[in-house]
Amino acid sequence: MIKGKGQGAFVSGFSKKTKVEKLDWISQQFHNPVQALEVLQNYNHSDKELQTLHDEFIENALTNFYMPLGVAPNFNINGTVLTIPMAIEESSVVAAASNAAKFWSTKGGFTATILGTEKVGQVHFMYHGDSQKLHQFFEQHNAALLASTDEITHNMRRRGGGITALSLVDKSDAIADYYQLDVRFETQDAMGANFINSCLEQLATQLKALAAKHPDFSEEEKAIEVVMSILSNYVPNCMVEAAVSCPVNELLPTVEDSKLFAEKFVQAVRIAEVEPFRAVTHNKGIMNGIDAVVMASGNDFRAVAAGIHAHAAASGQYRSLSKAEIKDGIFRFSLSVPLAVGTVGGLIKLHPLVRWCHELMGTPNAQELMQIVAVAGLAQNFAAVKSLVTTGIQQGHMKMHLLNILNQHQATESEKKAAIAHFKDNTVSHHRVANLLAKLRNA
Ligand code: MEV
Repeated sequence: MIKGKGQGAFVSGFSKKTKVEKLDWISQQFHNPVQALEVLQNYNHSDKELQTLHDEFIENALTNFYMPLGVAPNFNINGTVLTIPMAIEESSVVAAASNAAKFWSTKGGFTATILGTEKVGQVHFMYHGDSQKLHQFFEQHNAALLASTDEITHNMRRRGGGITALSLVDKSDAIADYYQLDVRFETQDAMGANFINSCLEQLATQLKALAAKHPDFSEEEKAIEVVMSILSNYVPNCMVEAAVSCPVNELLPTVEDSKLFAEKFVQAVRIAEVEPFRAVTHNKGIMNGIDAVVMASGNDFRAVAAGIHAHAAASGQYRSLSKAEIKDGIFRFSLSVPLAVGTVGGLIKLHPLVRWCHELMGTPNAQELMQIVAVAGLAQNFAAVKSLVTTGIQQGHMKMHLLNILNQHQATESEKKAAIAHFKDNTVSHHRVANLLAKLRNA
C-alpha cells in the first residue's frame, strides 16, 4: 500500500535518473518497498531487447502494463474469413464478438464499405484587419503556401497522397480576428498525425512570412499571430460503414421468435437514437469492439474515440452510431463511424505483438483495417443489444465474469472446475460464488 496522503515526496530530475534509480525511488514511496519493487519487476520482460524497446516508447517507463490479447474467429467480411485480434480487459467482450461473428457467418456475413478517407488539419491564427484583404492575400498566395510543403509531402505524393485542399476560413464571428487555414489530406496507409502536423507547422511559418512582406497589408495586418497548428481527430469524411442483413424470418430458429426479436431489436436501437442516456451506453458497447481492435492494431484509440463521439453528437444531440430497420421483410443493422487508422508508421513496425496482429488480419491496408474495426464494433453492438432484448445482459456477462470472481476468492483449480460446472445452469452472482466456495471448503 502507498504511504498515507501528505507523505508523498516531490522529486526533481526524475526523468534523468536511470531505470534502476527510478525503480528505487518509486518503491520507496510504498510502505513495503521490497514488495512494491517486486510487483513492477514481475511485469518486466526477461528478454532485455524487448524490454528496452518498450521502455523507449514512453518517458519514465518502469515496467509493462499487461492487457489480455484475445481473438474472435469466424468473421466473414465482404466474403473473406478472418480471425480478429482484440486487446481488452472486459470479460465478456471477446465472447460476444465471437458469438456475433458465428451468428452472421451463416447469414451472409458482414459487409463493409469505405465512404471516404479524408483527414483534416487546421492552422488557427489571429489577423487584425480587413477581412477582404486577407481573402485576397490568400487567393494570391495559395500556391506558394502549398509549394512550401513540397519537401514534406514529396514521399506521400509518390504514394498517391498529400494535401488535397487548402482554404481560408473566417471564424471572426465566433472570436474576434480568428481565422483558420483549413487543410485536407490524403495519407494513404498512414494514420498521418506526424505528416499532417509537419505540413501544418510549415504552412503556419510560410503564412506568417508571406503576410509580413505583403505590400497591401498595414503593419497590424502583417503581424499575423499563429495560435496553433494541429490535426483534427474529427474526421467526418474518413468514414466506414459496416452492415449485416438477412430475412427477418431467418434470424432465430422459429419465425415467431424471429419477428419478435427483430422488432424489439429495432426498438432498442431507435431508443438509442433519441435518448442520450441510452445512446452513450449503446455506443460504449460499440467502442468495446472498436477500441479492442484499434489497440491490438497499435493505433491511437483516444483519437479514434474522440472522433467517433464527436460524430455521434454531430446532429447537436448525442445519438446511436448504429441503425436498425426492417424493410420488405429484411432486417438490416448497420454502423457508420469516422476512423483514422494506419497500417504503417507509429508502433506498427516496432511492436512485435502489434505486427503479429496485423499478420493475423492478413496484413491489411488502412482501408481494410477501417473495415475490420467497424465490423468489430457492429458485432459487439449486435451481441449486446441481442442479449439486452432477450435474456438480459447479466446472464452472459456474469458467466464470463465468473473466473474473475473465483480469482478474487483465490479459488484453486479444482474449486474453479466445480464452480464452472455448478454455474452452467445457475445464475452467477458474487454472493452465490462465495457461498459455493464456502460449501466446497467446508466439505
Ligand atoms: C458493456 O460493456 C456494454 C453494454 O452496456 C452495451 C449496451 O448496453 O449496449 C452491454
